[in-house]
Formats: sequence, C-alpha cells, structure tokens
Amino acid sequence: MISYIWAEDANGIIGANGSLPWHLPDDMAYFKSTTMGNPIISGANTFRSYNRPLPGRQNIVVSRQNNFPDGIIAVSSIESLCDLINQAPDKNYFVTGGATIFTQLLDKVDYLYRTKINHSFNGDTYMPKIDYNKFRLIRSQPGVVDEKNKYQHTFEVYERIGQSPK
Ligand SMILES: NC(=O)c1ccc[n+]([C@@H]2O[C@H](COP(=O)([O-])OP(=O)(O)OC[C@H]3O[C@@H](n4cnc5c(N)ncnc54)[C@H](OP(=O)(O)O)[C@@H]3O)[C@@H](O)[C@H]2O)c1
Repeated sequence: MISYIWAEDANGIIGANGSLPWHLPDDMAYFKSTTMGNPIISGANTFRSYNRPLPGRQNIVVSRQNNFPDGIIAVSSIESLCDLINQAPDKNYFVTGGATIFTQLLDKVDYLYRTKINHSFNGDTYMPKIDYNKFRLIRSQPGVVDEKNKYQHTFEVYERIGQSPK
C-alpha cells in the first residue's frame, strides 16, 4: 500500500528554498505519529531537508547518487522503488515528497494524508495536480491553533475509489 503525506498551503505550495515555508509543530507531530513504524520514501532533496534518517522508520531515498548515511536504503529509479515495494506490498509505504516523487507515483497511490493550511505563503515547489474525483474523503479533523501554531489547518485522509493499477 502506498500513502502520500504532505502539507500544502491555500495555493498548493509545499516548499520554498529546499525547506518548508511554514513552522507548524502540530503538523510535524501529526507527520511523526502517522508515519512512525512505517517505511518512508523521500526524494533526495526532501531527504536533505531532514538532514538525517528519521528514527523508528525504514528510510528509503530515491536518488541517482549513493552517498547517503548508514541505514538509508537508496534506490536509483522509480522502477527499482516499485520492485522494492512489491517485495513487501502489505507494508504501508508513506511517500513524504517532494514534488518530483509525488508526481511519479500518482497512478499508484492508495491513500492521501493531506494537511491543508488555510494561509498563502511564498514558495517555489507545488504539489502536483491530483484528481480528487478518484478519491473519497474518509477523515477530516481540524488541527490545533495556538501561540506555536498560528495557521488554521485541517488533517484530511482520502482513500482511492476502486483499485489502483499496480
Ligand atoms: N510541504 C510538504 O509536506 C513537503 C513534503 C516534501 C517536500 N517538501 C518540500 O519540497 C521541496 C523538495 O521537493 P523537490 O520536488 O524539489 O525534490 P524531491 O522530490 O524531494 O527530490 C528530487 C530528487 O529526487 C531524485 N529523484 C527524483 N526522481 C527520481 C528518479 N525517477 N530516479 C532517481 N532519482 C530521482 C533526484 O535526486 P538526485 O539529484 O540525487 O539524483 C532529484 O533531484 C523542498 O522545499 C521540501 O521542503 C514539502
């Protein structure tokens, strides 16, 4: 099973200068608790933004390079990634971005964990267009807004309608 997890602003922006355009600890906590114990799949740029393997999760990085720290599984193509997934297809693989990886797995994703932030930011990286007619919303829950989390945001989960082509 493949799930996407990301946060986007009101205009679909997800990144700026190689990192996140916002500081939203409530979303970071949601990301951690949702992905913990599951394999995560990241593009090389997104992995660099973490600066280290994320603990408690198998870290898979898609890159044509192979200079990653111990503990990282590096795959050099989407085809190799799909081979790896097909070796243990019952795991829930969380694709954590960025835009290039989200774009290449659109036909295969089963669940979408989208944090929608009700604010407009400056940025340079956009979420690719998703056909939401192919998904149904199964959960929608407001995030915490307080001194540390200034932007209204909603945690949504969508499930693909019907079978995804594997
Ligand atoms: N808001 C969110 O939830 C969220 C989530 C994730 C990321 N982001 C943001 O998005 C930005 C990064 O996204 P991005 O789209 O620029 O980069 P990315 O998708 O994280 O990484 C791109 C890199 O992945 C590797 N790659 C991609 N497709 C490949 C393929 N088919 N075969 C082999 N390698 C492949 C290449 O690495 P090599 O050049 O090493 O070969 C490529 O340069 C950052 O600003 C980040 O903070 C935001």
